[in-house]
Amino acid sequence: MRIGVLTSGGDAPGMNAAIRAAVRQADALGHEAWGIRQGYQGLLEGDMAPLPSRACANILQRGGTVLHTARCPEFHQPERRAVAVANLRAAGIDALVVIGGDGSFRAAEALQREHGIACAGIPGTIDNDLPGTDRTLGFDTALNTAVEAIDRIRDTASSHGRLFLVEVMGRSSGMLAVHTAIACGAEAVLYPESPDDSYETLVTHLHTNWLRGKRSSIVVVAEGDSAGNAMAVGDRLRRDHGLDLRVVVLGHIQRGGSPSALDRIWGSRWGAAAVRLLDAGQKGFYLGEVAGALAIQPLARVLDPHPVPPGDLGELVGVLSR
Ligand code: F6P
Repeated sequence: MRIGVLTSGGDAPGMNAAIRAAVRQADALGHEAWGIRQGYQGLLEGDMAPLPSRACANILQRGGTVLHTARCPEFHQPERRAVAVANLRAAGIDALVVIGGDGSFRAAEALQREHGIACAGIPGTIDNDLPGTDRTLGFDTALNTAVEAIDRIRDTASSHGRLFLVEVMGRSSGMLAVHTAIACGAEAVLYPESPDDSYETLVTHLHTNWLRGKRSSIVVVAEGDSAGNAMAVGDRLRRDHGLDLRVVVLGHIQRGGSPSALDRIWGSRWGAAAVRLLDAGQKGFYLGEVAGALAIQPLARVLDPHPVPPGDLGELVGVLSR
């Protein structure tokens, strides 16, 4: 088999581990791996070439993706997908390993359904928002990056007796926000799936903490929260309550950096498993981790509702910040 490997959507630490494992497992089974550059954009432009095992030396520990990536809205159009399939066939590629998030898996699902291309998905996004898996590549690293950054902010917050609003990524998911908040002992967290009327609850909570003698606070704000991003919430708090607060947007710092051991391990396991399953004739699936074990999901499962952060974790942030 000739197996194409691509990374698509936002880069995530651990993608290189998955590329390396897919390439080397293919080599071990006597298949040929091809690298497709810049995700689906490269598929449309025919930007693909053989990717030998030796070309994957020293990439395991590197953040980003050596195959490069892109967001490719064009791929939503069926006629553009047909061009991609023609390029795949011209290159003699029989199967595709797609490392990416929700949008990337939807595109793979369409390629498989419309054109019968054997596709295997590996979850790669710092958002951890895919159904059917407890983990996505990059989440653990991004979480640790955010926690380390907030630990630093905590020093200033407590020295100055100040309120900080720290915005983390996650698009429409609060997974990164809630886990960051627990791990850095935040006083509160605002996130899209929160059952509370978040802004009002936040004000009451900060006021109660103030009366208890707490003089500094850190509020983690998910970028997709319904109360608005951290800037918007900060402006509102300043306007309503005259607070001298600071806003920090962690931004793309969360996406980069050397992958954590967990992201390297799962990238390696998933990269190898994707190729082993394709070799065994399976197609139209993506990999995941469920309760610590490797899971295999049908690609169509990506259309299911996205997982939400456990409600008790959001609540726990408030309970532990007394
Ligand atoms: O999906 C990963 C992610 O980092 C989201 O958390 C964020 O909303 C988005 O990508 C940012 O995308 P871009 O880097 O294209 O601005």
